[in-house]
Formats: sequence, C-alpha cells, structure tokens
Amino acid sequence: MVSEIRLFTEPDNLQKAQHYQAVLSSRLVDVNIDVIEQLNARFLRLNPELALCVDKQGLWLSANGMKMQPDWKAESARLKRASLKSEMIARACNLAEKPNLIDATAGLGHDSLLMAYLGAQVTLIERHPILFTLLEDSKRQNEHDPFLAKVVERINLVFSDSAAYLQQQIQQDHHFDVIYLDPMFPQRDQNQQAIKKQAQVKKQMQLLHLLLPEDGEMDLGDDLLELAIQLAKRVIVKRPRLAVYLAERTPDHQWLGDACRFDAYFSK
Ligand SMILES: C[S@@+](CC[C@H](N)C(=O)[O-])C[C@H]1O[C@@H](n2cnc3c(N)ncnc32)[C@H](O)[C@@H]1O
Repeated sequence: MVSEIRLFTEPDNLQKAQHYQAVLSSRLVDVNIDVIEQLNARFLRLNPELALCVDKQGLWLSANGMKMQPDWKAESARLKRASLKSEMIARACNLAEKPNLIDATAGLGHDSLLMAYLGAQVTLIERHPILFTLLEDSKRQNEHDPFLAKVVERINLVFSDSAAYLQQQIQQDHHFDVIYLDPMFPQRDQNQQAIKKQAQVKKQMQLLHLLLPEDGEMDLGDDLLELAIQLAKRVIVKRPRLAVYLAERTPDHQWLGDACRFDAYFSK
C-alpha cells in the first residue's frame, strides 16, 4: 500500500493541501507537498508519476496526465436516469426493500451512491487511506448539494479492512440485509470481451489500478465472501461477465449484464 506520495498544489491552495497532509498522516501516509506555479494539464503530462493534487475542487489523484476524484456530482445525471426497474444492481441487491447494506469494497463509492439513491442505507468500507480520504472529501462536498444531500445522508463511511470489520460484526451478533462485494479483479485475467471494453476503460479505473497495483499480491477478496455469508441474508458479488467465481464458490443465482454480472449467495 502507498505510504509516501507527492502532492502538487498552487500557492492559493497550500492551506487546504496542508489539511489533507495532516489527515493522510493520521492514516500513515507521508505526503510531501510541492507548491508549483500552475497546476494545469501540461504540468500533469510532464509529471506522469502517481501523485495527489489539491485545487479549488479539493483532492485529486493524478497519473499519466490524468486526474481523478470520485466526483459524485458528475454521477447525478446517471442517478436521475436510474430506477429500481432499470438497474440490474437494484434487482440483485433487492433495493426495493430499502435494505440495510454494507458495501465492503467501497472504491470510489459509485455503486453505493446509486444504491443509496435507490433507497438503501449504505455503510461503505474502504481500507486504502488515499481512497478513503477521497471518499470522505466527496461526501463532505455533497452534504449540501440540492440533489445529492438526501442521498449522502444515507451513506456512512468506515475506514477499515473489511475482513476485520465483518469479523467484529459477527462477534457482536449483528446482521445485515445485504452485503455487496466488488473486489479488484486483475486486468490481465479478464476475458477478451472485457479486455476490448478495457481499451476505453474509464480513466478512473486506470488510476485505481495504478493505486492498487497488480504485483502478484493483489488481494482478490476471496476471504470476504465466507464472512459476508455469515452476516447477511443476501450477499451480492460484482464480477466481470466471464470471471471465475469469488472464492470458487458457485452462486445461488446470477444476473448477467454486457460487461459484468452479479452473483448472489442467499442464507439458507
Ligand atoms: C473495484 S474497487 C470497487 C469499486 C466500487 N464498487 C465503485 O463503485 O467505485 C475495489 C475497492 O475495494 C477495496 N477493498 C478491497 N478489499 C478490501 C478490504 N478487505 N477491506 C476494505 N476495502 C477493500 C479496494 O481498496 C478498492 O478500493
């Protein structure tokens, strides 16, 4: 996991950058701030290594001339088109019942944002300190957004490893309606069809893969499935369409989409 990273900012945003530096330091990430004259596209192209940036829109991750943040506001248009009927994730997670749901692999929080919009009460768990800080920033920025405020109210963020979090919930005899898992899947192992789609893969996913490198030690989340099954009536696993089953466990039901599928495990 990244424990040291550069952060670029312009003089006007130095104070904000120092705030993120302190937050990340409390999460054991050393941030070295570089104050530069102009944080623009040219600068990012000339500095392609993985880094953080702070501008007036807050904290960003940057690499290879791109920058990204969860940007929940940009998801609003997609949310406005979404409905319980049209979204496969809504059927898989039974969102019509307004479940109490744990998303144990939060990432950028986009799936959870959609599930919260469609009525779920969502606890998002993320263990990566930089991703968690980006998520926290997104939540804070949208708490007063006229469209997203109500959605964000249903989102609770937890900075933790999910295996530890789920074990703790089991010990406390807690139960949940749904646990949702979308662990990283190695790009190199994806099927041909998925690889074709990957050619246009969103820059967000490309940057996620840089932050969570596939160095042979990538945690594929197999251990989470068994824990989740002990805690929830329904466990939903998002996978690339032709990927192997999580933990090699055959699901009880599947919903198939063009690029991905949802595998369901129901408690007996
Ligand atoms: C593919 S991304 C999830 C994308 C997410 N569904 C979205 O809509 O943005 C997987 C995320 O799960 C996180 N993750 C994987 N295993 C985890 C664990 N055991 N505990 C907490 N977070 C975990 C990774 O750090 C990564 O951010």
